[in-house]
Amino acid sequence: MKLRIPATSANIGPGFDVAGLALGLYQYLEVNLADKTNLGPDHLVYVAYERAFAYRGQDPKPASFNYYGDIPRSRGLGSSAACIVAGLVAANELGALNLSQDQLLNLATEIEGHPDNVAPALLGGLVYSMVDEVVYSKKVPVHSSLLFTLCIPETEFSTEKARGLLPKKLEMKDAVCNLSHLPFLIQALEEGDFDLLKLASKDCLHEPYRGPYIPYFLDLKKALEKKACVHISGAGSTSLLISKVPLKEELEDLTKGEAKILQVTIDQEGVKKIDH
Ligand code: HSE
Repeated sequence: MKLRIPATSANIGPGFDVAGLALGLYQYLEVNLADKTNLGPDHLVYVAYERAFAYRGQDPKPASFNYYGDIPRSRGLGSSAACIVAGLVAANELGALNLSQDQLLNLATEIEGHPDNVAPALLGGLVYSMVDEVVYSKKVPVHSSLLFTLCIPETEFSTEKARGLLPKKLEMKDAVCNLSHLPFLIQALEEGDFDLLKLASKDCLHEPYRGPYIPYFLDLKKALEKKACVHISGAGSTSLLISKVPLKEELEDLTKGEAKILQVTIDQEGVKKIDH
């Protein structure tokens, strides 16, 4: 069996730990039942595989795993969410565990700690989520006039380190800032309203603290102020640019060819069984 799992870009500015987009950039998992398992117990794909069996009170079935693809690690593009979703869905299929999408989403969120990457990796598209004992997710369409470009630096940035930069206590005005901007951000993405998107892109919870450590982020925000909404993708180090005009060439110039620039589509399907 072969699975395809999309990269994801979480937060999208004010949607910290809430909103995420599935991108047309993929990991693949070839997995088949076997006499012996060839992944170490600490590999995140296997951790998730084992967790799904444990949820049904079963031992994991031995399997051979071949996991590969194009999502770079520690760049804020959902590489750990892709591992988790791959392992859970593989277990569900090979073990005939009959877990629903909601059960998979809850298990994935439990392993990852927040739903903003795992939900779009499972469902595809633009997804926002709420955790209140269980996870509630809603997928909304993205307007086709918007273009999404990634600026992926060489530098890795661990989520643990990036979360360590955040304050332990918040000012009320910063909480209100994100609460008030997020609904308009979602509306702007749905309607393709770039002016509204620019206004609604403001984040007060994570970008001010992480921004100085993210290569190119502050410079790109300044240089492309009129043309793009620039966000830290997940916990970084990638920047996500949303625009109405192509930016690839300009970004290659601005980063002097030292970062990987990719214009990406939005993946609409989420994790998927494929034949080839
Ligand atoms: N919402 C998470 C964060 C995404 O920004 O820390 C990275 O896992």
